[in-house]
This record gives sequence, structure tokens and C-alpha cells, in this order.
Amino acid sequence: MLTVALALPPTNPQTLSSKQPAVDPYSVHTERGHLFSTGPTFYRPESSIGRDLAILSAVLHKRSTLRPLRVLDALCGCGIRSLRYLLEADADYVVANDANDGGFDVIKRNLARVGEGRWEARNEDANKVMMEMGCWGRKEFFEIVDVDSFGSDIGGLLRGVFGCVRFGGLVYLTSTDGYSSGGHRPHHSLAAFGAYVRPMPYSNEVGLRMLIGGAIREASLLGYRVTPLFSYYSYHGPVFRVMLRVEKGRDLDNRHYEFISYCHSCGHSQSHPWEELGRMCCICDKAKDRGTLVVSGPLYTGSLHSGSYVMEMIELAEELGWIGNGKGADLEKLLRLMIDESNVRLPFGFIKVDEVAKRAKINSPPLRTMMNAIQQLELGFIKVSFVNLLLQEGYAVSRSHIIANAIKTDCPMDSCIRIAKELQQ
Ligand SMILES: C[S@@+](CC[C@H](N)C(=O)[O-])C[C@H]1O[C@@H](n2cnc3c(N)ncnc32)[C@H](O)[C@@H]1O
Ligand SMILES: [Zn+2]
Repeated sequence: MLTVALALPPTNPQTLSSKQPAVDPYSVHTERGHLFSTGPTFYRPESSIGRDLAILSAVLHKRSTLRPLRVLDALCGCGIRSLRYLLEADADYVVANDANDGGFDVIKRNLARVGEGRWEARNEDANKVMMEMGCWGRKEFFEIVDVDSFGSDIGGLLRGVFGCVRFGGLVYLTSTDGYSSGGHRPHHSLAAFGAYVRPMPYSNEVGLRMLIGGAIREASLLGYRVTPLFSYYSYHGPVFRVMLRVEKGRDLDNRHYEFISYCHSCGHSQSHPWEELGRMCCICDKAKDRGTLVVSGPLYTGSLHSGSYVMEMIELAEELGWIGNGKGADLEKLLRLMIDESNVRLPFGFIKVDEVAKRAKINSPPLRTMMNAIQQLELGFIKVSFVNLLLQEGYAVSRSHIIANAIKTDCPMDSCIRIAKELQQ
């Protein structure tokens, strides 16, 4: 079955050359013009945006570091990601590994079109490969370590990941554990990511923060610190992906590694530093009423993306012809939303417009009207000559790439409710 339009232009002429492998006609796919087979391996066409993001990062990384690009695709499935790292990001060397016995020949066949000496296929447990290669083994480090794992397996792979990525390198981590992010198995998230996660209204964002928090903790153990370049939630799965830059220096005194709370009484969310353990309460009067506050953590509470980095990704996507001129609308929309979300003034989480309406006991106002009103909140009370100042001091607000009918804002829930009511009048 062909799952992606063949009309897409190949990024690299090699991909449609006579070196095409002999493929199984019953499991042939194309992605960005690359023809490949999947055989009995796990392959999801819906994850192609996740692979696009990986390639954009890999190209930017090679261009900015000018170092040979060595990539470990630790859980490579059929090897499409490895193939794309080789052909589109011009990776100098890729280790394509997957523990699934049945897929080993598929990986080798898919990579066969790339010249020898640029890749090796392995059929082992990812931890064994990472331990063998990294700081505990041959000391062969990678510029990019990509771990596209199921469930919360990534938690058990993080030690190996940080043991084989080089300083200044990137790690691309994936979890698909929606139960843990939804707060439905807090002891499991505690084991995998070191975070006790309870049900919160923005659980899919919590899933990204749980994954980054787990990486912060594990990286700190080895003396590294990590910075999120982008974070991507997709409802297929669900899938939580984060691209992190790894540098020297511990991170646990990072003020963005803390606890978060949500108050069921008033709907307010806030973050709590470790010093507040045992003293957490809500700003509302009902704070004394124990049981209204739900607390999760520790989690990463900083910005999910680097706006300037995502801007570079957009420019590269334009250069590659992936977006613009009516192409790649979904990818472009996602990247632009990430830029909006990267405003450092925006706190963790989001507020669903329906929750505001429910608390205000009104019908849901249109999202755009609500956002404009929040940004201009105090204009009516202060003279026009203060407009510029007001705009600077007005609330920050953006949409969320995670959910359509919600806003990210530093405006507290009670003010959102008041605005929503005013909008109804
Ligand atoms: C989500 S799929 C990978 C998809 C692939 N990265 C892609 O982009 O198409 C996860 C893969 O991890 C492999 N896997 C699971 N646990 C593993 C482990 N401990 N070591 C190596 N491979 C593993 C599975 O066989 C499966 O192919
Ligand atoms: Zn409250």
C-alpha cells in the first residue's frame, strides 16, 4: 500500500536512482520521495512529521557544528529514519538498530542504496548497543541519538542515551505513554521519569514535561544539562517527542524543574519550587479546603521550545521546499505555533476555553476574541498615552499546538472568567 503521495519531490536525486532496492510489493511506502519497504516492522505514516522535524534538526546541526554527523537511530523499525538521516541530512555515519529479528533484513535492504561505509545495521537491545559504544564502552560518541520508543520505555534507555551522546549533541526522545501523562498510573511515571503525575486538565502537555524532566534528572547524573529545542505532541498514539541539546553542567538547580498544581475549586494552576514542599496552597480562598489541590512533579516547567531555533527550522523547511507555495501546511502551522508557544512569559499548561465558559456559566466565546481581549485587558482603565506601556505589561497569550480550543496565557483563571463574562455582555 502506498501511504504517502508519490508526487512529493525527492529531496535527494539518489532516492529515485537505479540503486532502488528490490522491495516487497506488498509493503512498499514512500516518504519525502524515498521508496522503502516495511515488511514485518512497525511503521506509521502519521509519524512522518516527527521524522521531518528530526531531519531539519540534523541538517541544522551539521551546518552549525561543521562536525561529521554520526547518528544512532537506536530503535529504527524498518530504517526509514536512518535512510532519511543519510540521504537528506547527509549523515556521515548512521547506526541503525532494532531488536526485532524479523526486521533486520528489511533495514539492510532499505539502506542498501546508500554507499558502503556510511552505515551499519544492528539487531540488538538498544541499551546493549549504547553501553557498548558510549562512555562505558568504546567511547564512540554520537552527534544525534534518536530513541523512538513505545510507552514509557524511554525511561529505561535514558542512561544509555546520555552515555553515548557527545557534548553539544542532540537527543531526540519519544514516549507514547498517555496513561502516565494522564495521571492514571503515578507509580509508573515515578519509576520511568521520576515524576508523580496526577490527572491535570493539560495532561498532554504534562506528558512532554514529564519526558523532559526525566531527561533532566538522568542527564544531571552524568554531569550534563539539557535544553529543549522543540517539543511535539501528536494525538496519533499519543506521541510525545522532544529534541534536546546536551551540554556540560548539571541542571538540577534549574528553576524550571519543580512541581505544578491545579486547583479544582477555582481552576488556577501554578508552579511550586522544591522549598514549598509541604506548604503548597492555592491563591483562592478555598485553598484551606484540603483536597482541592492536585500536585504533580517534579516536571520541567520552562519553555517547551527555543523560538529562535524553530525559526531556523522554518527557514530550512522553506529552503528545502517543504513549506510555502501551498505545500506543507500542517508542518508550517505546527512550527509557527511552536514559535508562539515559546514566549518565555507563558507558563506551563493551557486553559481550555470550555472550562472558562463552564466556570463563568456562559456559552464558550470564540477563541480569537478571547485571546484579543486578554491581551488588551486593561486598556479601558488607563489613558491612551499609556497604551504602549500597557501592551508591554498586558498578558502574554498564544494558542497551543496540543489542543485547538485552548490558550496558553499568564492570565489567571479568575481574570479569564471575568473577561469571558464581559464578552457576553
Ligand atoms: C516506534 S517503533 C520505531 C519506528 C521507527 N523509528 C520509525 O521512525 O519508523 C519502535 C521500535 O522499537 C523496537 N524496540 C523496542 N524495544 C527495543 C529495544 N529495547 N531495543 C531495540 N529496539 C527496540 C521495536 O522493535 C520497534 O521497531
Ligand atoms: Zn484555587
